[in-house]
Amino acid sequence: MIIAIDGPTASGKGTIAKALAAHFGLPHLDTGLLYRAVGRQVFLDGGDPDDPVDALAATTFADELLGDPHLRTEECGGLASRVSIHPTVRQALFERQRVFAEQPGGAVLDGRDIGTVIAPDADVKLFITASVDARAMRRWKEMQARGARITFDEIAEDLRRRDERDMGRRDAPLRVADGAYVIDTSELTIDQALAAAIDATEEALKSR
Ligand code: DC
Repeated sequence: MIIAIDGPTASGKGTIAKALAAHFGLPHLDTGLLYRAVGRQVFLDGGDPDDPVDALAATTFADELLGDPHLRTEECGGLASRVSIHPTVRQALFERQRVFAEQPGGAVLDGRDIGTVIAPDADVKLFITASVDARAMRRWKEMQARGARITFDEIAEDLRRRDERDMGRRDAPLRVADGAYVIDTSELTIDQALAAAIDATEEALKSR
């Protein structure tokens, strides 16, 4: 059983993916982490994330980099969004994601193109979304708690820029996959969002 989860930044898709994987006893891959690792590697190499040659060279990052806490930062998210525009970078990360998706017993993957490109035949496809305001508010609260000095408006602007880049790129843009269940988490608590995701998954499995 493959569960494909897509959606924009701070929609709650990562939390939902992790919880669904635990609920159904499946392994989980956060594919954004792969793009973040490429972004981080370009930075460490002193390269230019907008340059396809520099970005492609960074796809050979060492696996240990996936555990680097820097990968979770907003800066790294921005770098990831920039390197992910290059088709050669996406191609270089494709096989690793396919192998994960096809392991016996199934898997949960979350990202931007899981239901459209990586696993178009997934048994369950979810598209997790929320308004820019709701997503910016969650991010702002998280960052306040960490003592970061950034305004709500700056965060909202950054989210809009990321959305535009992720949805506007030519190769594998973020969009709702055919047959995906759309869950808008703007007005939902984490528990409510997770309950909606479990319901949608069970319904999708029934209609297989
Ligand atoms: O989900 P995230 O915020 O960790 O993703 C960071 C960036 O990586 C995102 O802005 C676009 C890119 N990405 C992608 O292009 N395809 C994926 N499957 C996952 C992430």
